[in-house]
Amino acid sequence: MIQFILNNHDISTDLPSGSTVLDFVRYRQNLKGTKIGCREGDCGACTILVGELGDEKVRYRSMTSCLIPLANAAGKHIITIEGINPEDGSLTPVQQAFVDESGTQCGFCTVGFVMSLTGHCLESVSPHVSKGSVSPAGAAISAMDGNICRCTGYKSIERAARLLSEPPASAGGQNVANGSRIVPEYFDDICSRLSQLAKRLRLDQPITRAFLPIVAGGTDAYVQKPEFFAEVEATHLFYNDELRSVRDLGDYIEIGASATVTDLLESPVMNAIFPDLYKHLKLVSSTPIRNMATIAGNLVNASPIGDMTVWFLALDASILVSGRSASVNERGDRTANIPDVVREIPLADFYLGYKRLAKTDDEIVTAIRFKQPFGDFRFNFEKVCKRTYLDIASVNTAISLKLYDAGPPVPAVLLSEVEATKPRIQTAHVSAGGVSPIPLYLRKTSAFLMDKEISEETINLAAEIMQDEISPISDVRGSEDYKRLLLGQLFRAHFVELFATDPTEEISL
Ligand SMILES: Cc1cc2nc3c(=O)[nH]c(=O)nc-3n(C[C@H](O)[C@H](O)[C@H](O)COP(=O)(O)OP(=O)(O)OC[C@H]3O[C@@H](n4cnc5c(N)ncnc54)[C@H](O)[C@@H]3O)c2cc1C
Ligand code: FES
Ligand code: FES
Repeated sequence: MIQFILNNHDISTDLPSGSTVLDFVRYRQNLKGTKIGCREGDCGACTILVGELGDEKVRYRSMTSCLIPLANAAGKHIITIEGINPEDGSLTPVQQAFVDESGTQCGFCTVGFVMSLTGHCLESVSPHVSKGSVSPAGAAISAMDGNICRCTGYKSIERAARLLSEPPASAGGQNVANGSRIVPEYFDDICSRLSQLAKRLRLDQPITRAFLPIVAGGTDAYVQKPEFFAEVEATHLFYNDELRSVRDLGDYIEIGASATVTDLLESPVMNAIFPDLYKHLKLVSSTPIRNMATIAGNLVNASPIGDMTVWFLALDASILVSGRSASVNERGDRTANIPDVVREIPLADFYLGYKRLAKTDDEIVTAIRFKQPFGDFRFNFEKVCKRTYLDIASVNTAISLKLYDAGPPVPAVLLSEVEATKPRIQTAHVSAGGVSPIPLYLRKTSAFLMDKEISEETINLAAEIMQDEISPISDVRGSEDYKRLLLGQLFRAHFVELFATDPTEEISL
């Protein structure tokens, strides 16, 4: 039995746990406000909000309901457009802003846009806004980056977002914009209702059987095999609290397998290490997909262009996997409680061939970890796609460098004055996607860069070595030659980003 709150109603259902929330709200609850477009997470017509209890507060995130299995709704507050409409028939401030700015024509996409922007207005002010990585209006507009409109044109929709984003229109996280409630009064009780539900669910923990297919956020699984996953019983790992933390363990940073891209984006641990986190992770899919896409899902999916895979390869990360133990409970079910770590696999050794992994189907990824960076650590991620947002890469690449702190470890008397001031690489890790059947850790290029000073010559020689390590093919994302050239240019872009004082100039060292 799956239990959750849908708008203002308590739901208990014994429908298959893999059927989608979209089909449930439209065909079982007759809530037709939520639209169906692509069923692949691309158009945003089916966007809903999912409220999750945490720290005595409910956090609402936009998600595409076409990719959410009912199992992932358990214990949550699911909100469709019908759940935010005021009872007196008036408009919410978000809906009013769309009307005021003529942000809608045929209306097919409008519900999705309104849900995304409502979710944004309910959020506290993002630390990325406070830090100046993005303006309040920019953050509001990018909250709708998973929504596509075919007829209105985006400028009027952007104006609606601006209307709501600048204080005093919305103070962020306070359920009020332009003097009116963003969502109805029943939301005030949702926190205590979800707490009650959580207590009941704890008494009725679902059994996670071994040897079933695994689903986390569902953003790959439900695009690849929607019919299969809708009907099959699966091990659902998305809201498994044991698998969600992002922890600084001193020597290592350890990220739970079910942490989402958004969890990383909001993690104080990750933000302290990666100053450009916002810029980099905003290139990954869209807001609703980042709210669902887990790190393990990205790694196990084994796409040659997986962004998070390329990201972690350049951190020389490893993954922790554990077998699903086949212990038998009193009902005779084989349970799969997550046991202690069984083995650690360097991510660079995880990909054996196209979609072939160095783990068995029965093994669960429990975490990914990388060494705590120290000293002069630099990291960069580059991605080129056919369009800037909500697209997978043609080619992507990442690099991490540890520089010698105080010059090279050779007697300074042996070096000319100029050489002594040049940064010198202590360790380097370079990765690339879209240029081989698997996401690549570029071993030879990384090894070559070690102990080299950073200069045009070093970069050019490394770029040549890199060409021998890749084997791109011509496809819809570009010809072989184009991908070779692109990776070379993106590799140079790493150094421009990390070392040029003025990004328009050549690397000035
Ligand atoms: C519209 C759209 C845009 C996208 N854009 C991008 C993009 O820009 N960049 C990008 O890299 N990807 C993108 N993706 C792909 C996808 O979102 C990511 O790969 C995501 O990280 C997958 O995570 P998930 O939790 O949804 O995986 P799921 O779909 O739940 O699972 C994917 C695979 O991983 C396995 N799995 C999941 N968790 C575990 C675990 N703990 N242990 C063992 N196996 C596990 C599942 O069995 C399945 O085989 C996009 C997808 C969509 C729908
Ligand atoms: S129907 Fe297009 S994103 Fe769900
Ligand atoms: S209003 Fe018609 S698709 Fe957006």
